[in-house]
Amino acid sequence: MSERYDVIVIGAGPAGYISAIRAAQLGFKVACVEKWKTPSGELALGGTCLNVGCIPSKALLASSEEYENAAHHLHEHGIEVQGVKVDVAKMVARKDGIVSKMTKGIEFLFRKNKITWLKGHGRFVGAADGFYKIEVSGDDASEINEARNVIIATGSKSRHLPGLPVDNVDVCDNEGALVFTEVPKRLGVIGAGVIGLELGSVWRRLGSAVTMLEAMPGFLAACDEAVAKECWKIFTKQGLDIQLGVKIGEVSRSADGITVPYVDASGEQRSLVVDKLIVSVGRVPNTDKLGLESIGLAPNERGFIEVDDHCRTAQPGVFAIGDVVRGPMLAHKGEDEGVMVAELIAGQQPHIDYNCIPWVIYTSPEIAWVGRTEQQLKAEGREYKAGQFPFAANGRALGMLAAEGFVKVLADARTDEVLGVHIIAATASDLIAEAAVAMEFKASAEDIARVCHPHPSMSEVMREAALATDRRALNM
Ligand code: FAD
Ligand code: NAI
Repeated sequence: MSERYDVIVIGAGPAGYISAIRAAQLGFKVACVEKWKTPSGELALGGTCLNVGCIPSKALLASSEEYENAAHHLHEHGIEVQGVKVDVAKMVARKDGIVSKMTKGIEFLFRKNKITWLKGHGRFVGAADGFYKIEVSGDDASEINEARNVIIATGSKSRHLPGLPVDNVDVCDNEGALVFTEVPKRLGVIGAGVIGLELGSVWRRLGSAVTMLEAMPGFLAACDEAVAKECWKIFTKQGLDIQLGVKIGEVSRSADGITVPYVDASGEQRSLVVDKLIVSVGRVPNTDKLGLESIGLAPNERGFIEVDDHCRTAQPGVFAIGDVVRGPMLAHKGEDEGVMVAELIAGQQPHIDYNCIPWVIYTSPEIAWVGRTEQQLKAEGREYKAGQFPFAANGRALGMLAAEGFVKVLADARTDEVLGVHIIAATASDLIAEAAVAMEFKASAEDIARVCHPHPSMSEVMREAALATDRRALNM
């Protein structure tokens, strides 16, 4: 049955479902279109993030870290354990349980906020009298609903390489790599980016020999160089074999496994034979069959929907948020855009400072940063001062067997404003929140240094790094 809504959101990933909730909180009549199906054929909310992204990957990272600690590090605490074994099926089932709990949680939130879930594929089929028409095609039927405001939150999918079909059994993207039934002896990863490092770490910890083939000549190009350099040391020491500057040839299969021929950085022809291959070479926005042309919109040459700083498209009342628009492909970035757009529709004046969006890579130790890198500041010609402090000089870190890494604070040379914070630490994902708050409030390094931090805690290293910008770290 056709209905009129104030707001229809297309896509219930973190950008879309949060936007729907905020719009409902603001008093709008809201519907959200979602078509995601689990492998067992059940419709599910939550998008990439909850089903095959952030949440399941972090669950497997946590399980594999527990295994690695039990098998290799507990003895350093004086605890001897023997016969540590991995039950991959149980590990994956635990992860699936968390995913299901979280996606069902969004169904509850939709009911609580009186948001209608329109089940199926949504697409624009025109507009009339100030209302956009959205056709929703389910398994058996389709219907057309209308809304004054439409928020496109259709997210992204894995980019695949030409000539290398992904079957998600042997050659996998993130979806297949989260459901291996056993630990592959030899695992190849094409692309040493965020997914490659996180999922490569999961299976390395569980016993795979992992080789990563990366096209770029540099490692973690988006990170501060000091961080990338230190992480290279740590990850290669952990056993990740990372080959940089490679060019992949035609992949083939034989009884011995999957053969990946490649030319290495020195120009030598080499070949890698593995049992499973993960392809993690970036993601592309979802704009297929969205009917954008019916309302005079089109994706740009890279497939993204063009928006302004407030996620407005060229059509009044049509917004786009999350992975389908410019900016980092991060769940929290999409969530913040979702809140911003709902508030804009309500006539408020929200704003996002994209420079204050934190990044985290959930390796061990974790990598996190917010703001500018040292190389960006140099390129911008900005005068800055840097302060760095190691976790090796922090008592809590030593006690936790977490002494790897450092915090680096970059501050304006004249005003002392914090311009960037870069962390390698076991708990970097939590520590970076302090830096994000500081930068949102335009804090100075001195502001961070004057705040009383709990002792003993990993957060003391943030304060010491802030003090170090003025060469007055206390414990160094
Ligand atoms: P998505 O989550 O992709 O959701 C879009 C939804 O729209 C999907 O459910 C899709 O079915 C639906 N949809 C698309 N088209 C239509 C249509 N026409 N009709 C109906 N429904 C439609 N980010 C982080 O911040 N932290 C992390 O730790 C992290 N880990 C990740 C790990 C992995 C393995 C991957 C792959 C990604 C990870 N990300 C992480 C990125 C994060 O998942 C994305 O940035 C985030 O999911 C984007 O949210 P979104 O709502 O824009 O899109
Ligand atoms: P990515 O952009 O992080 O890394 C892709 C890597 O593949 C790059 O280093 C690139 O140079 C390399 N590459 C591209 N083509 C190649 C080729 N032909 N051969 C070899 N290497 C090649 O993308 P990734 O890892 O697929 O993740 C996609 C996005 O998902 C991330 O950019 C991030 O936005 C999001 N994500 C976020 C996470 C987090 O926040 N912790 C975790 C996982 C994903």
